[in-house]
Amino acid sequence: MEKSHKITMLGAGLIGLFYTMTLHGQRKRDRVHVIHSRSEERAKNFAAEWKIPKWTTKLAEAINDPETDGVVIGLPNHLHEEAVSLAAKAGKAILCTKPLARNAAEAKRILDIVEKAGVFHGYLEDLVYTPKMLKSLNAIQKGVLGQILWARSRETHPGPHSAWFWDAKEAGGGAMIDLACHCVEIIRNYVGKDIRPVEVMCWADTLVHPIEAEDHGIALIKFATGAVGQFEVSWAFRGGMDLRDEVSGTQGTLWLNHFLRTGFEMFTSGESGGYVAEKSERESGWLFPVGDEVNELGYVHMFADMLDAWDSAKAPRETFYDGYVVNAILDACYKSARTKLWEPVELEVWRGATRVEKIKAPTQEFEGQILIKRERMPDGVTKYILKDKKSGQITNVMK
Ligand SMILES: NC(=O)c1ccc[n+]([C@@H]2O[C@H](COP(=O)([O-])OP(=O)(O)OC[C@H]3O[C@@H](n4cnc5c(N)ncnc54)[C@H](O)[C@@H]3O)[C@@H](O)[C@H]2O)c1
Repeated sequence: MEKSHKITMLGAGLIGLFYTMTLHGQRKRDRVHVIHSRSEERAKNFAAEWKIPKWTTKLAEAINDPETDGVVIGLPNHLHEEAVSLAAKAGKAILCTKPLARNAAEAKRILDIVEKAGVFHGYLEDLVYTPKMLKSLNAIQKGVLGQILWARSRETHPGPHSAWFWDAKEAGGGAMIDLACHCVEIIRNYVGKDIRPVEVMCWADTLVHPIEAEDHGIALIKFATGAVGQFEVSWAFRGGMDLRDEVSGTQGTLWLNHFLRTGFEMFTSGESGGYVAEKSERESGWLFPVGDEVNELGYVHMFADMLDAWDSAKAPRETFYDGYVVNAILDACYKSARTKLWEPVELEVWRGATRVEKIKAPTQEFEGQILIKRERMPDGVTKYILKDKKSGQITNVMK
C-alpha cells in the first residue's frame, strides 16, 4: 500500500503557503494536519482555507501532535534550531527550509541533533529542483558540458516581505544569508556536490536600505578542481525577482532564466487582478507572470523527492549536511567581506571526495604542434594558433 503522511507545518507565512499548496496539490495522500502560526487569526484562517484539521499558536504543541509523523519547518531562521530540536525529540521526520541556520556552528548543531536522533531529514532547497535545473544537471552528468569551469547564479529582488528578514540577528545576515544560500547550493550542484569548496572572495555592502545587514553581495567560490562559482545577490533590484544561472564547461554552455523571462509576457492598461508572481513590483503595464509557480520554483519536484526518499528510508538529494556546507561557505563570505581577503571555507566535517583531479582539457595536435585554437575567418581562411612542443613559441598558421 502507498504510504501517506500527516504533517505538522510550522509557519503560515509565504513559505508555509507555498509548501502547503504543493503538498495538497501533489501526491494528494500527504496532508498538512496541523498548522502553526504565531498569529491566532492567521492560523485559524489558514486552517480553514486549506482544510487543515488542527491549528495552534504553540510551537511545541504543533510538533508533539500525536497524529503527525513529520514536521516541515517554515519559520524565521532564528527558530530553526529550536524547532529541529523539539521535532527530533519527538522522533519525527524533519524537513527544513533554507537557510538551514544563521551560521555554520548553528547548522552543525542542527545536523548533529538529527543524526544523533536518527530521524529522516531533508533540506528544502527548492531552486535545485526546478524542472530546468533538473534537466541541466542531467545533461551535465552525461558530460554534455564537459568539465565544469564556471557556474554563476544570481538572485535579486526589491527586498523581503517580513520584518524578521531585515533584522540581522534574527536572520543571521541580510541578502547573502537570505538569497545567496540558494545560489551557493545551485553552484554546488553544477560544479558537483562531491567537490570541496576551498576558499572565497566576497564583496558585500549596504547600499540602499536603512539596515545594518548587507543588501548586496557578490562572491567567488573556488573549488578543489579549480572551478569557480560566482554569486550575485541584491535586495534592491527593481523590476521583480531575477533568478538566472550560467554554466560554462570545457565543451558547452548553459544559460537559465527561471523567473522574469520564462516566455510568458502580458500587458494590461488596467489592473492584472491581483498577485502576478513572487516579488513582482507591478500589477499593470508589462507583466511577467509565471505559469505554474510552485512547479517552476522547484517545490513540486522537491517534495516528490523528499517524500519518496522518506517512504523508502533513503537520503533525499538535499540533506541537512548540504545545508551545513552552504552555511560554511556563507560564513567564509561574510568573513572575506570584512577582511577583503580570500578566506578558507572551514568545514569541520567533509563528506565529499578527498582527492580530485584539477580541470584538464585533452590537448589536440595539428601538424606536429599543439593546437591552441582554430577559427574560420571572414575571408574563408582557417587560422590555426599553434604552440611548438619544444620552444613553447606560439604562431599563426593560415590554411
Ligand atoms: N524559496 C524558499 O525556499 C523560501 C522562500 C521564502 C522563505 N523561505 C524561508 O522560510 C522561512 C520563513 O520565511 P517566510 O517567508 O515564510 O516568513 P514569513 O514572515 O512570511 O512567515 C513566518 C511565519 O513564522 C511564524 N512565526 C512564528 N514565530 C515567529 C517569530 N518569532 N517571528 C516571526 N514569525 C514567526 C509567523 O507567524 C509566520 O507564520 C525562513 O527561514 C525563510 O528563509 C524560503
